[in-house]
Amino acid sequence: MEEYLNTPIKEIITKFPKVGEILEEYNIGCVPCKVGSCLLKDIMEIHNLPENEERELLRRIAQVIYPGKKIEIPRIERKNRRKAGDLTYSPPMKKLVDEHVLIKKLVAAIPKIIKNLDPESEKGREVIRKSVDFIRFYADKYHHAKEEEILFKYFDENLDILKVIHEDHESARAHVRAILEGLDKKDKGKIAEHLMAYHELLTEHIKKEDEILYPWMDRNLSTAQVGELFSKFNEADGATDKEVIGNCKKFVEELEKKYKIKKEAVK
Ligand SMILES: [Fe+2]
Ligand SMILES: [Fe+2]
Repeated sequence: MEEYLNTPIKEIITKFPKVGEILEEYNIGCVPCKVGSCLLKDIMEIHNLPENEERELLRRIAQVIYPGKKIEIPRIERKNRRKAGDLTYSPPMKKLVDEHVLIKKLVAAIPKIIKNLDPESEKGREVIRKSVDFIRFYADKYHHAKEEEILFKYFDENLDILKVIHEDHESARAHVRAILEGLDKKDKGKIAEHLMAYHELLTEHIKKEDEILYPWMDRNLSTAQVGELFSKFNEADGATDKEVIGNCKKFVEELEKKYKIKKEAVK
């Protein structure tokens, strides 16, 4: 089993597709992941399941790799192991999770925006333009920049987990560019297609960060680094135009009211 703990997950899944299905059951999305060079033991470390769940998962994987054999499951020592249902954040990470809430509200309104899409009228174009302004300023310049220019600098940028997150940010930017091109040409189909793709991408991306990336980063930062990070985030917030942030919040609140977005949609 030790040998497989040190094998890249894509190699294991290619040889034993059933392993991918088992990981999916634990909400570990290695099958659709485009990178896939994480070792099995890294995946256990990053996802940090409660110990009994992790042992059960490894036992099931061992059964697929060595059918019918009795395999010793190695105990993976780890400080700060997560307990079932427990998801807490350090103050800087909590700040990012809180920013996600506003982004999730915009993302939740997108299907309704698409339903009412009207690039022919000035009013219709305004909703699209304002949504793009929100994404560009709040989600990208304000939030993603805090991640890319401050938080991620504390980690090795060649780590698979960071490559995946970077790719998501780049894909999100490409969708925004495509939405604007569609708006220019009053191409309703193109706007709808890329708004929907942004909706799907960001829904998964935020879940990935809240549930996997930030808790993993928290476990790997020292107390001094957490403090430094918090003050750097505060500095970045201080340098941001408060009026624009206020307008972003106001716009999302208007959307919520207009489209009657339910609270459950942003959970
Ligand atoms: Fe992100
Ligand atoms: Fe984020």
